[in-house]
Amino acid sequence: MRILVLGSGAREHAIILALRSEDAPHDIFAAPGNAGIAQDADLVAVDANDPAAVTGFANENAIDLVVIGPEAPLVAGVADALRERGIPVFGPGQAAAQLEGSKAFAKRIMDAAGVPTGRAVRAATRAEVEAALDDLGAPHVVKADGLAAGKGVIVTSDRDAALAHADTYLPSGPVLVEEYLSGPEVSLFFLADGDHVLPLSPAQDYKRVGDGDAGPNTGGMGAYSPLPWLTESFGGEDGFVALVTREIAEPVIRQLDAEGTPFIGLLYAGLIVTDAGVKVIEFNARFGDPETQVVLPRLVDPLSELLLAAASGHLEDRARPTFSDEAAVTVVLASEGYPAAPVTGRPLSGLTAAGEVEGVHVAHAATAEREGGLIATGGRVLNVVARGADFAQARDRAYEALGHIGLEGGQSRTDIAARVAD
Ligand code: AMP
Ligand code: GLY
Repeated sequence: MRILVLGSGAREHAIILALRSEDAPHDIFAAPGNAGIAQDADLVAVDANDPAAVTGFANENAIDLVVIGPEAPLVAGVADALRERGIPVFGPGQAAAQLEGSKAFAKRIMDAAGVPTGRAVRAATRAEVEAALDDLGAPHVVKADGLAAGKGVIVTSDRDAALAHADTYLPSGPVLVEEYLSGPEVSLFFLADGDHVLPLSPAQDYKRVGDGDAGPNTGGMGAYSPLPWLTESFGGEDGFVALVTREIAEPVIRQLDAEGTPFIGLLYAGLIVTDAGVKVIEFNARFGDPETQVVLPRLVDPLSELLLAAASGHLEDRARPTFSDEAAVTVVLASEGYPAAPVTGRPLSGLTAAGEVEGVHVAHAATAEREGGLIATGGRVLNVVARGADFAQARDRAYEALGHIGLEGGQSRTDIAARVAD
């Protein structure tokens, strides 16, 4: 197949590596990609957020499938433009992508579909925020309604901090004050073709910047998959996945379809396993980053066939994808100052040695080539991904490999997958 992948992060690198690992050879193009992706795909100078540019490239180059990694091209209507031209694309149109971009839209869909989620109040003034904080009680959750890459959310027991956060976002529109949901978080991905869904294998993400979940929220500092502890409450992964498919993913996909905004692409369910059942904290309209980096290396089925089946409305005929029993762990290396003000432009070293550790590969997030070497160009710089027979082995391998990598001021968590490795 001739496949165009849009995006430039470690998630896109993970998607491309999964496509590369198939028996069938593919011609893979990436726009814009990064220095690591350049080793596994042809980088093309196409603006990934420009529907006309992407459609033009796909047409001229006989692309069989476009895979949209990040949210921005979805919001820009790139999937709509491709679909209008009959080019298979894995990624929802602008309207359905609001499931991620507008928390108010997501809440409305969930209410209409009867999907379990926390109570939420939309507050447009400071007085409304104060009333909602008092009504829902501490800990407080306040969210900006819009794109904020996990950074528009505050979870705090400090009422003044919650109010100050609301003050930051109120000038640009209402905020959501939510009921705090207590319990472990799970990310579960579904391939969707507008009518049907197929679940992938669950993962857990580490959202806070520091060890022990200290410090601000980030895009994600590490992840592991599968989740052995689901067995205690759900009799294993299959029971959990079946429950979330039936009670959350299928009703949401049906509701979006009934409203004339069918969802074709990756439905990311961000879940909390509470004492009162599994509840949704958010949906995303794309693969999660860094969870994708630990889910796809365990996928046994050819990814290209699954994505094409979703893009062309044929998931109904396919069995649930299978995953290896291996443990996968990823640790993110981020620049000094991330997430507030990352310092970029610093040289990277040791990637070759890291990649030589058994079971390890490096997925690039924000790297570029300078004078024959690599530099960091963003907040999250790369992901060390390790597989092992169990979590202890995968985790040891990931941290051994990370130890080979040099980046002045680089930050990474030391506790990724620690709780499952004992
Ligand atoms: P979001 O941008 O909605 O994914 O929120 C980012 C992170 O904040 C989530 O991954 C959770 O860790 C936390 N969070 C968001 N909403 C809630 C909630 N209602 N209860 C508890 N934690 C939450
Ligand atoms: N890892 C969280 C996200 O992709 O939104």
